[in-house]
Amino acid sequence: MPDALKPGSVVGILGGGQLGRMLALAGHRLGVRSHIYCPDPHSPAFDVTPLRTVAAYDDEAALARFAAEVDVITYEFENVPARTAELLARLKPLRPGARALAVAQDRIAEKTFLTGVGVPVAPFAPVDSPATLAVALSSLGYPSVLKTTRLGYDGKGQRILRSAEDLDTAFAALEPKPLVLERFIPFEREISVIVARAVSGPVAAYDPAENLHQHHILKTSTVPATLSAASAAEAIGIATTIVNALEYVGVLGVEFFVLADGALLVNEIAPRVHNSGHWTEAVCITDQFEQHMRAVLGWPLGDPTRLADVVMENLVGDEIAAIPARLGAGQRPHAYGKTEARPGRKMGHITHVRRFGDEK
Ligand SMILES: Nc1ncnc2c1ncn2[C@@H]1O[C@H](COP(=O)(O)OP(=O)(O)O)[C@@H](O)[C@H]1O
Ligand SMILES: [Mg+2]
Repeated sequence: MPDALKPGSVVGILGGGQLGRMLALAGHRLGVRSHIYCPDPHSPAFDVTPLRTVAAYDDEAALARFAAEVDVITYEFENVPARTAELLARLKPLRPGARALAVAQDRIAEKTFLTGVGVPVAPFAPVDSPATLAVALSSLGYPSVLKTTRLGYDGKGQRILRSAEDLDTAFAALEPKPLVLERFIPFEREISVIVARAVSGPVAAYDPAENLHQHHILKTSTVPATLSAASAAEAIGIATTIVNALEYVGVLGVEFFVLADGALLVNEIAPRVHNSGHWTEAVCITDQFEQHMRAVLGWPLGDPTRLADVVMENLVGDEIAAIPARLGAGQRPHAYGKTEARPGRKMGHITHVRRFGDEK
């Protein structure tokens, strides 16, 4: 490991939400320090490490000072501005790299990349006017899903077009432009694969999780997923193809639609630790947060083997009050330390652990 950073090194993390917080916690156990960069002075990640920068993502002087104080830079969200990524990557290693960010933060770039490496996605067409929307609908048909290409999350920035409607209104409703139209996929279930790639090339993937959404927000991730062994292996193979093609370093989340015949389509990828991988902290030899830190530090990856069956349940808004009342012996709680339980806000999660051999 000639390029491995030493214990005591500082990992710079862009973004101060729960994912940054969980990365910093994992870093502490590894003996490295984390420096969080986030414009919001009340960021949950600031609670767990003393090293911080509170500044805008386009504050070039603050970015340069941050880069000078860290040994490697990573991020917990995919919407890092391209210019910020470029500036930082000139000063310190940025892991995952700028290409992964560029591909993952634009749905058209993402689908074009995936198609180019032979990974199946839903049929799609770029839309930049009501006229191109009409053309796209005539080839993709109804229902279809119209989405912003950038900045969507938790179902925001998209709408389903079910039948002929006023295309000017549908086009105008979504910002920012441009948009992309995707064929609506009548999937049987949704799964995700969390995969990691080390600087030196080895890849490690976790078992696929089956994901249920409520009000467009992830509600539960269940492992094992209801999936044939062949589809599970295919999903892991696709995730591996993606990280290798990007020469990726770190953890990546890959979301899939599973069709009735078991065929898989990739919905989207996230160049970071992923909500549907939080269960790994409860039951895997190496969890996704430690795995990401090991990868960005240039260290060998850990073993992703799963030691029990699990259901990870997100606690959204007021549901955070379920800690401590709902905790039995087999429940692993994780609260993100957010003070305000706004509706729709991810506040924490509980992982329900079912040991192999326990009754269902
Ligand atoms: N083409 C599609 N067909 C059917 N359902 C879709 C389609 N695109 C998105 N969805 C549903 O909406 C959810 C959110 O869409 P996604 O593209 O993953 O955006 P986000 O960035 O909000 O996660 C998906 O998990 C899926 O349930
Ligand atoms: Mg998604």
